[in-house]
Amino acid sequence: MPVDILQTHKLLDTCEQALAERYTVHRLHEAADKEALIAELAPRIRGIAGGNVSADLIGKLPKLEIVANFGVGYDTIDTKAAKAANVRVTNTPNVLNDAVAELTIGLMIALARRIPQADQFVRQGKWPGGNMGLFTELTGKTVGILGLGRIGKEIATRAQAMKMRVVYHGRKRQPSEPHIFYDNLTDMARDSDWLVLIAPGGKGTERIVSRDVLTALGPKGMIVNVARGTLIDEPAMLELLQNGGLGGAALDVFEKEPAVPEAFFALDNVVLSPHQGSATRQTRDAMGALVVANLDAHFAGEPLISAVV
Ligand code: GLV
Repeated sequence: MPVDILQTHKLLDTCEQALAERYTVHRLHEAADKEALIAELAPRIRGIAGGNVSADLIGKLPKLEIVANFGVGYDTIDTKAAKAANVRVTNTPNVLNDAVAELTIGLMIALARRIPQADQFVRQGKWPGGNMGLFTELTGKTVGILGLGRIGKEIATRAQAMKMRVVYHGRKRQPSEPHIFYDNLTDMARDSDWLVLIAPGGKGTERIVSRDVLTALGPKGMIVNVARGTLIDEPAMLELLQNGGLGGAALDVFEKEPAVPEAFFALDNVVLSPHQGSATRQTRDAMGALVVANLDAHFAGEPLISAVV
């Protein structure tokens, strides 16, 4: 008898196909009455594919054994409740490191050189009226990385290829890393031209990039967020971008995404992106394969490939 699993949101087609070949998949996100579906399936569901897993949902599924998240960040899963209920949780690390690091450097250059604005300038026929202006470049600048984890290290390598100096802040110093460590984020922001955020979301990091940190980064400072919108005090950032207290921002994530405050749209010193860090075919296929591989390993009684709980 195939195992019953619950899918909590849309997944990549290749991933959905692979799941359907192995499991009886129930799509919670497509159910008209989600509570009724949960109540009906509660005695059978042994696995979840996807995120958005609250303590309440875990509590309603007594046979649940594993949650396989699609994504490296698992801040939409109540891991405390999972642990308490003896439910394993997996994520999709490593396979997306390069894609996210590539987009980060892409966003940095896009912001430094105003590439999206330049494209608009040409398309709108403004060029014959005069040149666009002069901007900045990455060469010779200091980038402070918040979160020198697996992705942060890939960003550091690429930033060095751009002839940047790398420093970092995180929970602890990593003695094997050659870059300078700051134990205080505001100090690092003050000493950096660029601040790149690639730390996990969730309660522990909410708004750690405060108004003070942004003010320390200053009128020439550029912020890049490829992590979670919750890391930044978004209203403070918006205000500082509007009044010149902050130089610019390249944002792939937002506090209440996909809703983006419209005030950002009017700003010239901003580059916006719709949470695209891992959004390449090859990376998303690899992430989907890892979701399936973790479920398969669990139900075959084998060690999980990438467990976080
Ligand atoms: C993307 O944001 C991820 O967590 O994988």
